[in-house]
Amino acid sequence: MDTHIYTADDLDAAAKDIVEGKLVSFPTETVYGLGADATNEDAVKKVYAAKGRPSDNPLIVHVDSEEMVEEYAMPLSDEAKSLIKTFWPGPLTIIFNLKDNVLSKTVTGGLDTAAFRNPNNDLTLSLIKKAGVPIVGPSANTSGKPSPTIAMHVYHDLKGKIAGILDDGECQFGVESTVLDMSTDQPAILRPGAISAEQIQEVIHKPVLDERVHVADAQVPKAPGMKYKHYAPSAQVYIVDSPKDFEEAAKWAAEQDDKVGVMATDAVLNNLHFSNNVESFSLGSDVLSASHSLFAGLRHFDNESDVKSILAQGFSNDGIGEAYMNRLNKSAGQKHFNK
Ligand code: TXA
Ligand code: MG
Repeated sequence: MDTHIYTADDLDAAAKDIVEGKLVSFPTETVYGLGADATNEDAVKKVYAAKGRPSDNPLIVHVDSEEMVEEYAMPLSDEAKSLIKTFWPGPLTIIFNLKDNVLSKTVTGGLDTAAFRNPNNDLTLSLIKKAGVPIVGPSANTSGKPSPTIAMHVYHDLKGKIAGILDDGECQFGVESTVLDMSTDQPAILRPGAISAEQIQEVIHKPVLDERVHVADAQVPKAPGMKYKHYAPSAQVYIVDSPKDFEEAAKWAAEQDDKVGVMATDAVLNNLHFSNNVESFSLGSDVLSASHSLFAGLRHFDNESDVKSILAQGFSNDGIGEAYMNRLNKSAGQKHFNK
């Protein structure tokens, strides 16, 4: 199968593919998604096959409006409506209880809830409107690999397996959306993202549980995706907890026989001398630019170099730092430099 690279001029062709049950990757403000008609079970099955994704891991349903959610979800609470009003379109995915038999088990993984998201990308919102159906979309990477933040990442993983990629340049945030469970009386964050628990609490005026604490030990994790290995490049990643630890990390790197990758901010890279076996990748100036570039950096070392280990800068767990550290911890398998 030829994989077309679509641009804004090709929205009709991309929408036609979706309606015909084909797969099209779409841009969002977080990462690229792998799109299929959420109401076409055969099309949704192809998404799991293309990614190599375990079939018990449910998909996010991307919608163009609150009205589109209401076709599938049980009546929305006032809290849910306020969240939608405040954060949509944007990087907040919300889990709602479903009406009976409105979405296939293939979408929901057999749960009686589904995750809905209204992405802040004009091309993708037009694509959903033109197709006239909600579009399921996991991140458009091979399962286990870092999520794609440019169209070429998608092409690398899925060329020949999908009909097209709608190219809209680089994703703004670079880490996936916050997943918030609103299906019970106790709102809970299942995956941290650009929208924080504090921001959500300000809108709904009640505490939001951090469900990830419970997810690790649970027999059935609340967000099934959290139990799988994720974001892992072939090289071993080590988290360097603070910029000052890079001095020692540089010494360690110089003693290695193999090539070592370093992912850090410009401040760290410019102030340190690294040996010749070190290849560096800039994370920009701060945690925001670091989140934007994290997956691109991991992919860079995976595909364009032969480093055996990667030293990646850690940040504190505030704001988007929580999302960044959540992804980095998974790609590192929790391994820290010097610990
Ligand atoms: O930013 C994003 O959310 C991107 C873009 C493409 O929109 N999508 C994305 O999808 O990250 P995915 O499939 O890689 O991650 C969805 C997460 C998984 O951890 C999944 O287990 C969880 O959401 N999830 C989906 N539906 C759920 C449900 N009904 N209950 C609990 N967790 C759910
Ligand atoms: Mg994913």
